Formats: sequence, structure tokens, C-alpha cells
Amino acid sequence: MNGYPDVRLRRLRRTAAIRDMFAMPPPGPEKFIWPVFVVPGARRRERIDSMPGQFRLSADELVKELAPVVAQGVKSVLLFGQHEGDGKDEIGAPAADPHGAVQRAIPVLRAAYPDLVIFTDVCLCAYTAHGHCGPRDGDGDVDNDAACEMLARVAVSHARAGADGVAPSAMMDGQISAIRQALDDEGFKKTLLVAYSTKFASQMYGPFRDAENSAPSQGDRQGYQASFRDPKTAIRESLLDEAEGADALMVKPALFYLDMIREVSSRSLLPVMAYNVSGEYSMIHAAAEKGYCDLHATARESLYAIFRAGASQVISYWAPFYREIFGK
Ligand code: PBG
Ligand code: ZN
Repeated sequence: MNGYPDVRLRRLRRTAAIRDMFAMPPPGPEKFIWPVFVVPGARRRERIDSMPGQFRLSADELVKELAPVVAQGVKSVLLFGQHEGDGKDEIGAPAADPHGAVQRAIPVLRAAYPDLVIFTDVCLCAYTAHGHCGPRDGDGDVDNDAACEMLARVAVSHARAGADGVAPSAMMDGQISAIRQALDDEGFKKTLLVAYSTKFASQMYGPFRDAENSAPSQGDRQGYQASFRDPKTAIRESLLDEAEGADALMVKPALFYLDMIREVSSRSLLPVMAYNVSGEYSMIHAAAEKGYCDLHATARESLYAIFRAGASQVISYWAPFYREIFGK
């Protein structure tokens, strides 16, 4: 009775209706967080060549761009800012400017979409002259504790502008407790703290760095981002962030790290978000353009993989295309 011919698994997939009945439900649009790039000024909608279908948007244009996205049931964005012109410095101080692109966009979005869940990326690489995620010390390393201090100031500036949650992505030791402390001290006790807890040094950030103009001018990020060759330490990163007071954890990238999503979700009771990063998005676009696969069907298959691995939410550039991908 344990095998063929008594067991015939094909019975469970004979017709489309039967397959639907036994399928896991697709992730709802409310599980998606759309990462967007905000730029200063108005009426700006600039195509990002390395990420088809994504744009650098001024706040007014983002309000317009969001209407059909929100109409599909997507409820959340993750804002990335940019600093243009002079003023990038050694420590990334423009990141905490109360008149920065992100700080200005938040109230504009809030007015247009009162229920939108607004997260902000908290990092310094788009604001430092050298493109690293914190100031450098005398040896040329990123100075951990000085970075934490600056990151806390940035997080507070986002909370003050009205962000629902802040998501620090610099991979500095102690950044979660530094930010939680600063938020509490400034009276922001309701701000969600979403840790990019296990973020790997990855090739998959290429298109994003092009969009953000945030590639390091020298060296790379292996001195602070997690190593894909050291999975145990990568798990410790997430567990430490939980202990430091994160409200949610994150694994990033998602598709080459499905085992890490599974492992972190089995070791923590916190939500585990997955960041389906720029390279993962652009690779599927490139393959589809070459005719190797169907764009939306491949996106769908990859998103199912992320949720099967145990992700509780996904941060994904596919969010605005939810209906095309899941057919609802
Ligand atoms: C900045 C940051 C990066 C991403 C999110 N925040 C790039 C990096 O670490 O170099 C990558 C997002 C993506 O590729 O979609 N710290
Ligand atoms: Zn950074």
C-alpha cells in the first residue's frame, strides 16, 4: 500500500480545479512591500535602466505611481533616498537632513494614503562620499560605533517625519540597540524596527547600486555584510538583532538564501521578511527578454519559493505587478 500502483500522485493533479484545491494559497498582496527610490524635487519620473519597470520618483510622482499599486491591495512601501549634487561627506550626514528626499516624501505619502505602511531604509552609503555604509576609521575600515551613532540619527529623522518603521541595512554590530535606544529617547516608542538582520555580501545588489548611485568607490562590503561561506555567523546576526529589540528580522537576498530564510524562521518567533533584491528581479527580466522564460510565470514561481521557505512578508520590486503575476 506504500507505493505504486496503489499510490498514484497524479490523481492529486489531474485537473486544474483539483490542482487549485490542493495548492497552497498564493501570498496576498498585503504581504508585499514595494521598495521605491525617491529623489528630491517635483515631476521627476526617471527610468532605471538596470531595473525594467522601476523608476526614480519625486514624491508627487510617487503618489501617482502608487494609485494602481494600492488598488491591487499592496499596503506598504520601503523608501530609499538619494542625495544629489555636492554635500556627500565622510560620515553621511545628509542622510539625517530633515529636508532630505525621504523625510520630505513621508508626509506627502501619508496625506495621500493615510493607511499606507511606510518603512524607510536606514543606511549611509547613498550619502557618504566614499559610498560605504558608515564613516571610515584610520585603517580604512568602516568605523562601527561611529556608524551606529549616525544611523540612530537617521532613524530618528525618519520617525520624526512619520515613518511607521525603520529598516537599518548597514550591518553594523549593535545598530539595532543603538537605534531602539535613540527612538525611545526621542519619544518614538511606536516605531517598528525591522532589522536587515542577515544581509549577505552579494552580487545581487548590482542593479540597485546603479539606481542609488551607492557603489563603494573603493573596496567592497565584505568587512560588514555577512559571508555566504559562513552560515552559522549569518544566523547569529539574526538572533542578536532579535535580542537587541528588533520587531522583525530579514534575510537578504532571498532566492540564493532560501535555506537561511527557513533556518532563521525556525529559530525565531519574530516575523522573517525576505528581501527579493534588485539582481533577482533584473535577472528574471533579462532571461525573459532573451526568450528563456515567461516573465510573470517565472516571477510567480520564484515568489512561491520565498514563501515556501518560510518568509512571512516579501520586500519585492514585483509588488506593483501583483495582479499580472498572481492573476487576481
Ligand atoms: C544599502 C542597501 C543595499 C540594498 C538595500 N540597502 C545595497 C548594498 O548593500 O550594497 C540592496 C537592495 C537591492 O539590491 O534591491 N545598504
Ligand atoms: Zn549601505
